[in-house]
Amino acid sequence: MPLYIVRHDITKMECDAIVNAANKSLLGGGGVDGCIHRAAGPKLFDECLTLGGCKTGEAKITKGYNLPAKYVIHTVGPVWDGGTNGEKALLESCYKKSLELAKAHGCTSVAFPLISSGVYGYPKDKALSVAVSIISRFVLENDMTVYIVVFDKNSYKISKELMEDVFTYIDDNYADETALRYGYKRRSASLNNLFYEPIEGKASNDIAPQTVSIDTKRELIDILSKIDENFAITLFKLIDARGISDVECYKKANVSKQTWYKILNDASYRPSKNTVLSFAIALELSLVETEKLLATVGFALSKSSKFDLIIEYFIVKGSYDIFVINETLVAFDQPCLGI
Ligand code: AR6
Repeated sequence: MPLYIVRHDITKMECDAIVNAANKSLLGGGGVDGCIHRAAGPKLFDECLTLGGCKTGEAKITKGYNLPAKYVIHTVGPVWDGGTNGEKALLESCYKKSLELAKAHGCTSVAFPLISSGVYGYPKDKALSVAVSIISRFVLENDMTVYIVVFDKNSYKISKELMEDVFTYIDDNYADETALRYGYKRRSASLNNLFYEPIEGKASNDIAPQTVSIDTKRELIDILSKIDENFAITLFKLIDARGISDVECYKKANVSKQTWYKILNDASYRPSKNTVLSFAIALELSLVETEKLLATVGFALSKSSKFDLIIEYFIVKGSYDIFVINETLVAFDQPCLGI
């Protein structure tokens, strides 16, 4: 089941459980802890009084009271101390223990804040990467939808190099298709720059598509060349050709079971572009293959869409980690894959 990164107030999340970044006393505090106690009401505090506190890296569960969530899982993250005092292992343990507790209580949806990344000082980019690595492993093996809820944009700190690299890629490739058609291109350097200039000696239809060197697999190309076959049939053939199971594929695609069943059972189902691209990433398709799969439902990658360019960037790089891609999409204010 999927992992989503969303920007929201966790107390508003309509999940079976939300996770609280608590302290060892479990008796409330500031940050997300304070927000959760305020939204849940005094009965949450009364129940917490009965729990006898909680060790760092452990988790305990209570009811959600006035919250939309049925349960609150309280976990105590490590205080950041330079990163050399076992902080990472303790933070990983917070996520693992909380997920186990949620599973033991039959939860099918859970929302986490970025534990330790506030008062406890764990750097947000590192905290996000611990969260993503533990949760993504868990969702591959369990039927649970997990949300990482971040409050502020700084939490989406993907590495500076990746951010700059993606930015440059978008910048180099971003184009208004209409302008291109008339032989114009954006003048320049910033994404906000909307000035266009003529492309010397170029008519719209002779603008060469970006050349990408791709080691294309013959078998996949053969399958994809039969574009009269619909999306579902093409997808199933691709899955077989890749030698992975259906479950592995839709989980890797971060696509929900419901969407998968629609693809399986509903002949009239037309996937969204986002869903098609999620499968392209899960199947590690090349750019040519991705375009062919998109074409089965009449879509194409667009040079005037930041979302499309980011996906294209990762495909061209041969980098198919959907969670890294999603972190990057969010950092560029784009929707995540698989939603
Ligand atoms: N929804 C989602 N995320 C939030 C919300 C919210 N409503 N409010 C804050 N955050 P913190 P910690 C984010 O300090 O670092 C408490 O006093 C926030 O931006 O709440 O584990 C406890 O009692 C940050 O990224 O938790 C402990 O004493 C993240 O939640 C101590 O703080 C965690 O920030 C725990 O510190």
